[in-house]
Amino acid sequence: MTDDAIIRQAHGENPIAALRKAHNEQLLLCDRLEEIADSLPDSVNRQKCLYAARALGPMIRSVHRFEEDVVFPMIATRLEGDGKIQATLNRLRFEHCEDECFSEELTEALHALADGSDDVNIEATGYMLRGFFEAMRRHIAFENEFLLSKEALVAADTSRLAPGH
Ligand SMILES: [Fe+2]
Repeated sequence: MTDDAIIRQAHGENPIAALRKAHNEQLLLCDRLEEIADSLPDSVNRQKCLYAARALGPMIRSVHRFEEDVVFPMIATRLEGDGKIQATLNRLRFEHCEDECFSEELTEALHALADGSDDVNIEATGYMLRGFFEAMRRHIAFENEFLLSKEALVAADTSRLAPGH
């Protein structure tokens, strides 16, 4: 069985399709965070803050582990000849690490909003929310362009090299 088949079997679907789905879920969460930022300071829906606080950390960590354990090694193998691939993947791993740290702070801030605490620094929280979802959208846009489109190109090349073509 090829590595691809093992990965597909382990996850029940093509990892690239799974990554696209995970990215879409992350982008929806970014939209929720933007709504919260826009609602500051007077129209905050505390329930939405609570949902976002609970979803944020687990979602970010599980997508990152999937990317780093499954997708990145697959891309690294397929694009071995590309001298920049390791540097690019290392940069993406570093961004994951930053986002995970940031998401812990943001989770606390969202819980404070959900609690209706008077101690919340609204300006700092708005700034934090915007910094987070803007960085995450940029990261996902890059991964979509770089990993997913290259992946498609490599798959196309492989099929041209297959016997009989
Ligand atoms: Fe990522």
